[in-house]
Amino acid sequence: MIRIAIANQKGGVGKTTTAINISTALAATGWKTLMIDLDPQGNASTGIGVSSSERDASSYDVLVDRTPVADCVMPTRIPGLDLLPATVDLSGAEVELVNEDDRAHRLQGALRGDLGYDVCLIDCPPSLGLLTLNALTAADTLLVPLQCEFFALEGLSQLLQTVDRVQQRFNPDLGIIGIALTMFDRRNRLTDQVAEDVRSCLGQLVFETTIPRNVRLSEAPSHGVPALIYDHACAGSRAYMALARELITRLPEKRKAA
Ligand SMILES: Nc1ncnc2c1ncn2[C@@H]1O[C@H](COP(=O)(O)OP(=O)(O)OP(=O)(O)O)[C@@H](O)[C@H]1O
Ligand SMILES: [Mg+2]
Repeated sequence: MIRIAIANQKGGVGKTTTAINISTALAATGWKTLMIDLDPQGNASTGIGVSSSERDASSYDVLVDRTPVADCVMPTRIPGLDLLPATVDLSGAEVELVNEDDRAHRLQGALRGDLGYDVCLIDCPPSLGLLTLNALTAADTLLVPLQCEFFALEGLSQLLQTVDRVQQRFNPDLGIIGIALTMFDRRNRLTDQVAEDVRSCLGQLVFETTIPRNVRLSEAPSHGVPALIYDHACAGSRAYMALARELITRLPEKRKAA
C-alpha cells in the first residue's frame, strides 16, 4: 500500500477537496483505496457522505487506543473506497498523547502490514502539530495543495522545513510527490503571478495540472458526494481526474502495477 499524506498547515487551501476527489478517482481506476480523515473537523468524512452520527470508531481510536485500522474503517458509497473517519474526539488526541514516547509513530504502526488496500490518502488538519506529524511519519510521500495567493510561498517554505525535520528524525524515506496548485483563477493576475513564481522556484515538483476555482467543487460536499460524482463533467472534476492521472505516473513502477 502506498501512503500519501495531503498536508499544508494553511487552512482552506483545498486539502480535503483534493483528498476526496483524488481518492474517488483512484478508486474509479480500480485501486482499492482508503481515505483517512486525520482532521478533527471531519470534513473529509462529511464530504464523502458519512454524517457524524454514522461514525462509530474513528482515527482517534486508532491513534489513542491502538484499535486496529480494520476495525474502524467503513465503506463509502463509492465502490472501492473505504473511509477511516474522524470525530471531534480527535482534537483531544494531541494532549492525550503528549507523554507517550511513540506519539509521532502511532499512525505509522497502525498502517503496517497488509490492510488490503493499494493506496491510502491521509487528509491532514491545517497545522503542523502532532496529527500532521503522525501523517508525515506514516507516509511514503506528501502531496501539497497550494492556493495561488500572496503568502503561499512563505507557508510552503515552513512546510518544507518540517518535511526536512521529519526526514531527519522520524521518516528518512518521506518523499514529496508533488505540489498541486489549487483554486486557480485565470482572470486574476496575482494568481497567475504566484503560479509562475511557484513553478520557477520549484520546477518539476509542481504538477502540470492546476485545479481551477470552480463552484461545483465547493457545492459537492454539502450533497455528501465527491465533485467527481456530483458533476463529473465540470472543470473542477476534469482537473482532478487529470491530477489523479498525473499522480499515478509519478508513483514508483511497482505501485502502478498494483
Ligand atoms: N478549486 C476550488 N474551487 C472552489 N472552491 C473550492 C475549491 N477547492 C476547495 N474549495 C472550497 O474551499 C473551501 C476550503 O476547501 P477545503 O476544505 O478542501 O480546504 P482544506 O485545506 O481542507 O481546509 P482546512 O484547512 O480547513 O482543512 C471549501 O469550502 C471547499 O469546498
Ligand atoms: Mg480540510
